[in-house]
Amino acid sequence: MIFLWILIAILLSFTTTITVYAAITTSPYLASSKEIIREAFKLADLQKEENFLDLGCGNGRTLIIADREFSAHAIGLEISPHHLLMSKINCFLFGKNSSALWRDLHKYNLSIADVVFCFLTPKSLSRLETKFEKELKPGSRAVFYSSPLPNRIPDKTIKPFDKASKLFLYRF
Ligand SMILES: C[S@@+](CC[C@H](N)C(=O)[O-])C[C@H]1O[C@@H](n2cnc3c(N)ncnc32)[C@H](O)[C@@H]1O
Repeated sequence: MIFLWILIAILLSFTTTITVYAAITTSPYLASSKEIIREAFKLADLQKEENFLDLGCGNGRTLIIADREFSAHAIGLEISPHHLLMSKINCFLFGKNSSALWRDLHKYNLSIADVVFCFLTPKSLSRLETKFEKELKPGSRAVFYSSPLPNRIPDKTIKPFDKASKLFLYRF
């Protein structure tokens, strides 16, 4: 019995360490509202059968909306095991064409994406900017919630519902 408790404690400290690491290096977990997500997809003109990628998918809410309401093929990348589990449960229960993967977004090749969504800290976006330039294919779109790319002017910026945060669209 004690062995089982030790195993659970090790597992919990391992998953918590990864979650804290992700929060410090890239972004802590904060969920976008459903309204913001829908506005982001309209802004990116997300089409049926397109490949949608959420970089740091949190609870998987974006994936379900992209899948069920926009008929896209949705893939979420998530490094935190806690949030990955929520995403996987959401995809299993509510998704048709969506999946959440245990991946570091900095290491995943983005070339399959038609539309990318990011809700990350400004510091991590400056690290990612070159990756986007290199890997996103011509015709793809990226929508950033709250923080824009530091060195590139957005093609369009909107402030949905008069909320403080903005959505930034980039065409590649
Ligand atoms: C601000 S939340 C956004 C969640 C979701 N995209 C949304 O808008 O509701 C950022 C997410 O990125 C995840 N994350 C942080 N670093 C990551 C990394 N290197 N690779 C994958 N996911 C990461 C965090 O665990 C967190 O769930």
